[in-house]
Order: sequence, then C-alpha cells, then structure tokens
Amino acid sequence: MSDPYDLVELSLDEVQALRHVVLRPGLDEQIVVESCNDHLEGAAHFGVREGGAVIAIGSISPDPHPSGGGFGWWRLRMMAVHPDFAGKGLGSVVLGACARHAAENGGVAMWANARMTAVGFYMRNGWMFDGEEFVDADTQLPHLRMTRMIGNVKLT
Ligand SMILES: CC(C)(COP(=O)(O)OP(=O)(O)OC[C@H]1O[C@@H](n2cnc3c(N)ncnc32)[C@H](O)[C@@H]1OP(=O)(O)O)[C@@H](O)C(=O)NCCC(=O)NCCS
Repeated sequence: MSDPYDLVELSLDEVQALRHVVLRPGLDEQIVVESCNDHLEGAAHFGVREGGAVIAIGSISPDPHPSGGGFGWWRLRMMAVHPDFAGKGLGSVVLGACARHAAENGGVAMWANARMTAVGFYMRNGWMFDGEEFVDADTQLPHLRMTRMIGNVKLT
C-alpha cells in the first residue's frame, strides 16, 4: 500500500473511535462499541492509518454461518472508512487483510450482515448475497447477508 497509508493490525481499543464516528454516530463516546465476536479466539482487527489517525477498520473472527452448515466460516464485522477517505480503495484493502488473516488461520469462507447501503461495495469485492433483506436489531437498518469464498481472494 502506498504512502501516506499504512495497513496495520489494530487492537480493540484502537478501532473504537472510528466505530463510533461511522457505525454508531450519536452513541455516547464512553460506550465501547463491541461486537459479540471481538473476544473470540482468532478474532482480529485490521485498519489503515494515515499519520497517527485510524481512517479505515474491519474485524474478522471465526464464526459458523447462521445456516449451521459448512466448515471454516469466518465473520466480518464493523467495516468502516472515515467519510473523508471513502472511495480511495481503503475499504477493499482492509477487506483483503481480513480475508488473509482468516485464510492463514484455516478459514474457507466469510460471511457478513451488510448494510443495504454497502451491498454494492461487497459485490464489487466479489461477495454474493444470500437470503432476504432484514432489519438488524442493533442499528434498525436494512441489511442483507453476504458471503465470499476465501479461496479465490487475491491474498498477496
Ligand atoms: C462501505 C465502505 C466500507 C466502503 O469503503 P471504501 O474505502 O469507500 O470502498 P472502496 O474505495 O474500497 O470501494 C471499492 C469499490 O466498491 C465501490 N463502492 C464503495 N462503496 C460503495 C457503496 N456504498 N455502494 C456501492 N459501491 C460502493 C467503489 O465505487 C469501488 O468500486 P470500483 O472498484 O469500481 O472503483 C465505506 O464507504 C463505509 O465505511 N461506509 C459507511 C459504513 C458502512 O456502511 N460500513 C459497512 C457496514 S456493513
């Protein structure tokens, strides 16, 4: 990745600010925005820094597909790019880092509950939708479940 951007692994603390700004605007900043998967063994957070600031994030963890079928599923959560940096390919870079982490740890496929407004982003990155639109309980926003096999993601 070219300057001034650095792709890095982040701690849970380091993803909090952007989770607030992009995914949970209006939520008290003292409240930690945790995914139920953040503390699972193998869970990891990746992001892009510009200078000291974290400007893109995504989190990945092993988690069976909700249908219960298959082996080696990982779940992507909390993808966000600061609006000042949208459209520069940073979300795709973070998605790639999450896929690489899953692959290196035995992952075969990924799933996510995607906001309807972000479905095009996932499709551009080779994900497919799976099922019907639903309203997410946390955000009350319409979502679609999406999936992606890891074997055909370019991991270099
Ligand atoms: C969705 C999001 C992560 C995309 O990040 P990004 O860095 O802007 O995306 P990229 O620049 O890597 O885009 C890759 C491709 O997807 C397309 N794309 C990006 N966001 C899109 C969207 N919301 N709808 C349709 N297409 C989109 C881009 O145009 C680009 O296409 P191209 O390859 O033809 O140029 C970011 O806009 C964001 O944080 N949105 C708000 C929070 C959110 O919805 N997060 C996802 C929760 S499920």
